[in-house]
Amino acid sequence: MRIPEDFVLGAATAAYQIEGAVAEDGRGESIWDRFSHTPGKTVRGETGDIACDHYHRWQEDVRLMRELGIQSYRFSIAWPRVLPNGHGTVNEKGLDFYRRLVEALLAAGIQPMATLYHWDLPQALQDKGGWPNRDTAKAFAEYAHVVFRTFGDQIPLYVTLNEPWCASVLGHLIGVHAPGMNDIRATLAAAHHLLLGHGLAVQAFRDESLERARIGITNILTDIVPASEDPADTEAASRADAYFNRWFLDPVVRGTYPDALAPFGLAAIVQPADLDTIRQPLDFLGVNYYQQQKVQAQPNDPLLGFRALPPEGELTAMSWGIQPEGLYRVLRRVHDEYGPIPLYVTENGAAFEDVLSEDGQHVEDPRRIAYLQAHLAAVLKARAEGVDVRGYYVWSLLDNFEWAEGYAKRFGLVYVDYPTQRRIVKASGHWYRAVLERRALDV
Ligand code: FCB
Repeated sequence: MRIPEDFVLGAATAAYQIEGAVAEDGRGESIWDRFSHTPGKTVRGETGDIACDHYHRWQEDVRLMRELGIQSYRFSIAWPRVLPNGHGTVNEKGLDFYRRLVEALLAAGIQPMATLYHWDLPQALQDKGGWPNRDTAKAFAEYAHVVFRTFGDQIPLYVTLNEPWCASVLGHLIGVHAPGMNDIRATLAAAHHLLLGHGLAVQAFRDESLERARIGITNILTDIVPASEDPADTEAASRADAYFNRWFLDPVVRGTYPDALAPFGLAAIVQPADLDTIRQPLDFLGVNYYQQQKVQAQPNDPLLGFRALPPEGELTAMSWGIQPEGLYRVLRRVHDEYGPIPLYVTENGAAFEDVLSEDGQHVEDPRRIAYLQAHLAAVLKARAEGVDVRGYYVWSLLDNFEWAEGYAKRFGLVYVDYPTQRRIVKASGHWYRAVLERRALDV
């Protein structure tokens, strides 16, 4: 399978998962610092205090990317480094870190893709109510504006938000992510204000009239499959689709919320004209894909009315199923129903139990290679059929802090030996380099 010349192969990370240096150069506290330091919130009480020490080892990490031949690097900018209080005073030292990084990437011929919000809200804003507070959307636009003014066209691809579904639902309803709440009203408000922040940030971006830079949003998309052909299950699947996918696609692209969400009580939060602000013309949509979800009707669940069945077959270390065809299906679907619009797969990858060889030189991870190969093939198939998908980013470049799961779950193309911070390219990293070199995939 040939990889089209203009198709970009990259790798992704996020600030809190790799940087460490949480109290350096004026960085403010984020909700993930607070959450991970709260007893019982993460596996073994692990935190991002040091993580991959990327804040100090970024040069080595850029070198690694160059060795792997990676064409584009998706990273996130830590809002609390740039605006330690969330708004107001800009911390130039925080910006300097990203200035150096972006310059090094460009010098290495690696295209930067910067995510503005990958879940590390400044704690100072959380103290004023966080995302459930409408003012946070304005603060986000202010922060975004600082980033656009600083980097302009130097960063060719900007992503406003990473997975607002996770930030809303995992953070405010299920409570397994920061800020650790269990409140449906707060969840709806957080979701709406994240989307509003996205719209305002895109407006701020357009105000800059940049020549080359483009902007989009990244959603996590789940391929929903009904458990049976029973109409109750197909109806449940459509509700699940509204909850998992359309909640954050419809407002952004169409300026509407799916009807299925009305019973949640959205009307109390949405102000007139909000949806016009949220629906801004976008240059691309980012798709993160990890899972397919089989769903069954659950009539006695008054809120959702469905139940997600446990995944079947081979599982990753996250206990997630492996269905590459789901990635093909979500891309087709976004193209058919929300497009045509350029798409990027901004994350895809898998955690497996990686073992460093005794001599400390090798990690054999054939299951990750098979996973990436099959998923990339699914993307190329969609592309060959005319879906305008322009790139694929492996999650992740490096093993890193997997949020509530801590460091035990390894997603990297590169193994990180945390006690020494040594980086060891896994077999999957070598495989990716070969794919990049040959611009072809064996299938
Ligand atoms: C995604 C997140 C990313 C990483 C992967 C495994 O939901 O965006 O930070 O944790 O999952």
